[in-house]
Amino acid sequence: MKVSVCFVCLGNICRSPTAEGIMRQLVDDAGLSETIGVSSAGTAAYHVGEKPDPRSCETASRRGVALVSRARKFAGKDFARFDYVLAMDAENLAHLKKMHRSKAATSRLSLLRHFDPDDPRNQDVPDPYYGGDDGFDRVFDICHASCQSLLDHIVAEHELD
Ligand code: 4NP
Repeated sequence: MKVSVCFVCLGNICRSPTAEGIMRQLVDDAGLSETIGVSSAGTAAYHVGEKPDPRSCETASRRGVALVSRARKFAGKDFARFDYVLAMDAENLAHLKKMHRSKAATSRLSLLRHFDPDDPRNQDVPDPYYGGDDGFDRVFDICHASCQSLLDHIVAEHELD
């Protein structure tokens, strides 16, 4: 893979698997699946090995996206594996920054919503885990807009078209 991307949330069962599934599909649709690798992870280990939350799967499936990941915890060595590490919220970003303070690592790190064209203030992707079902549609919408813009950024930066 020429470029690799990892989305990071807390449990790796709701937000980051949703972003991973959407990004995989966008990358595939752009004919770039041999060029851009997509993954996800969590900063916590509560759900390691689990499939994504059924509410995330149902929301994504209704909108034509399959979620195929299994939860794993983000590891220090992942900083060397991924060119872009996209945190879902400020808390996860702070956790990742604390894990690895090197300049090389932090330059790869940002909030996913840094790429959200509808959110110039770079807010969090809200955690839907303890909320109602509409939270999952909102997460999907945010991830979709942000991932499309992230893909455009990667294509331009790496001259992939
Ligand atoms: P995620 O959501 O970080 O988007 O995967 C959560 C999943 C599980 C928990 C919290 C948030 N939990 O506390 O178990």
